[in-house]
Amino acid sequence: MQFKIIAAQDLDKLQRQQIAELCFTAFDEDPWGQYAFMQTASHLVGILDEKIVSHALWTDRVFTIHSNNQVKTAYVEYVTTDEMMRGKGLASQLLRYLIDALTTLGYELAALQPEDDAFYKKLGWISWLGDLYIKQNTSTYLTDEHEILLYPLSVKLKELLSQHNTDTADDAICTDWREGELW
Ligand SMILES: CC(C)(COP(=O)(O)OP(=O)(O)OC[C@H]1O[C@@H](n2cnc3c(N)ncnc32)[C@H](O)[C@@H]1OP(=O)(O)O)[C@@H](O)C(=O)NCCC(=O)NCCS
Repeated sequence: MQFKIIAAQDLDKLQRQQIAELCFTAFDEDPWGQYAFMQTASHLVGILDEKIVSHALWTDRVFTIHSNNQVKTAYVEYVTTDEMMRGKGLASQLLRYLIDALTTLGYELAALQPEDDAFYKKLGWISWLGDLYIKQNTSTYLTDEHEILLYPLSVKLKELLSQHNTDTADDAICTDWREGELW
């Protein structure tokens, strides 16, 4: 499988159409229909025989971890493989490529909200067991109904998250509000 990273605004008509089809099949929506911030997403596509068969995208967020660590985070969504091509390891390959690419691009952390975490955990993603807060204007509120998985990319983050297991006193991630799904 060949991989390409393409900014949302640089997708050509055919690429948009193929991504939309994959996402409609998996999620009943394409990524761009509802939220303006998706226009600035970066797409990773896996291509076989000139067709996009596997896809993920990420948007930029800043996570504040343990109150004082501002972390450049890639928030990953719309992970899907063509229905006819599932179970062949394509999404696993795509996500491994994604982790390498994000590390090269200088992200410190990747994060996502899983539909089912078993698939991601096999690939090394870890559950965040602490609290999740959203900051909106001047207020900050707890969103304890959500679960996210993390993949630390920098040495600093690997160390920070390993403390997470032993020091639960101040375990919180906070990030800015966004439209649509907060996490
Ligand atoms: C989840 C999805 C992206 C996996 O794509 P894929 O290309 O088939 O993935 P892979 O072939 O790399 O699967 C890797 C492994 O995860 C397993 N797996 C796949 N989907 C899984 C799920 N929902 N729950 C648990 N395990 C899953 C596979 O059985 C496989 O296991 P194996 O390595 O032991 O054989 C694909 O099933 C899909 O598009 N689903 C619909 C959209 C979706 O749910 N996306 C995830 C949003 S968070």
